[in-house]
Amino acid sequence: MPANLTELLAAALTARRSLLDQLHAEQTSAYRLFHGSVEGEAGLSVDRYGDALLVQSFHRPLAPDRLAAIEAFYTDVFPGLPVFYNERSQANSRIANTLPPEQIGAAHVRRQFQEMGVNYRFQVRHAGQDPWLFLDLRAGRRRVMQEIAGKSLLNLFAYTCGVGIAAAKAGARHVVNVDFSEASLSIGKENARLNALPIRLRFVKSDVFAALRQLSGQGQAERVRGKRMPPFPRLETHSFDVVFLDPPRYAKSPFGVVDLVNDYAALFKPALLCTAEGGTLICCNNVAEVSRAAWLDLLERSARKAGRVIREVEWIAPEADFPSLDGQAPLKMALLRV
Ligand SMILES: C[S@@+](CC[C@H](N)C(=O)[O-])C[C@H]1O[C@@H](n2cnc3c(N)ncnc32)[C@H](O)[C@@H]1O
Repeated sequence: MPANLTELLAAALTARRSLLDQLHAEQTSAYRLFHGSVEGEAGLSVDRYGDALLVQSFHRPLAPDRLAAIEAFYTDVFPGLPVFYNERSQANSRIANTLPPEQIGAAHVRRQFQEMGVNYRFQVRHAGQDPWLFLDLRAGRRRVMQEIAGKSLLNLFAYTCGVGIAAAKAGARHVVNVDFSEASLSIGKENARLNALPIRLRFVKSDVFAALRQLSGQGQAERVRGKRMPPFPRLETHSFDVVFLDPPRYAKSPFGVVDLVNDYAALFKPALLCTAEGGTLICCNNVAEVSRAAWLDLLERSARKAGRVIREVEWIAPEADFPSLDGQAPLKMALLRV
């Protein structure tokens, strides 16, 4: 079996040779090297983040001989880069495995890598479960960088603010990152410090629903159905040239429910109302079961209800290190001129 796995890893690497040359030439040192079932092994991914390689299993723990085969393969291809393993098949994809004692220190070192010349932090193990930059969103960050010079950006569900940092690096006039996680925003601030950015970014620790209601002018009530809302920062009504909306699949808070399968409109509508007339709303949906057609239909209907028109739609596909069997990647990104 490991021999077969090695063949799969080798085929995935061969398929990426020219992409990796391009990425290295544009100062990108983070990319996916092996992408699960599409490349022959469901639930297995291998990523490079600068000077470290990260193996993750999402369906079942890797047997020791398989992990050893993976380590042997990549040690040969990328001599000197340590290979770390995060086992994530448990509930909520929490990292479950213990590290070999000799890797514990190295797994907690703050590292740095580049994507399109922008510096980002990476740490193999930290308090959260996901790596600090989602690599399939590179295509979205690239598109924002092409779009943003001289414009303002609202980055919703900003996480570690990758989209916002990339935008500032590419000449955005004003960037506001919104997320309710202090820990994620603090990595975003570190990311900002790693780059000589021409502007100061804003980091707003807020529930996205509360922020959108205020920015769009609807206002956020202090009490809803008799219940006092948790504290939230006050924001003035403001519209943005570009709004980037990349929510998680499902998240519930006192301010609202993020549900990409059943209620994308709950976020889309206020995000649209924060997008300037003639502006651009880039929205993402990473739920595989939601088809492009059904999702676009919903976006168009919600825009009409909000009294706005979608003038143009451009699909942004994940780059070639995230291949898909049928051209239907789970991560859908739609750039809407509105
Ligand atoms: C999958 S990440 C988004 C990825 C991000 N857009 C990027 O560029 O990498 C989900 C983020 O949403 C945040 N989040 C979830 N529900 C939220 C809410 N109601 N208000 C604000 N942030 C929320 C989480 O803290 C987390 O950082």
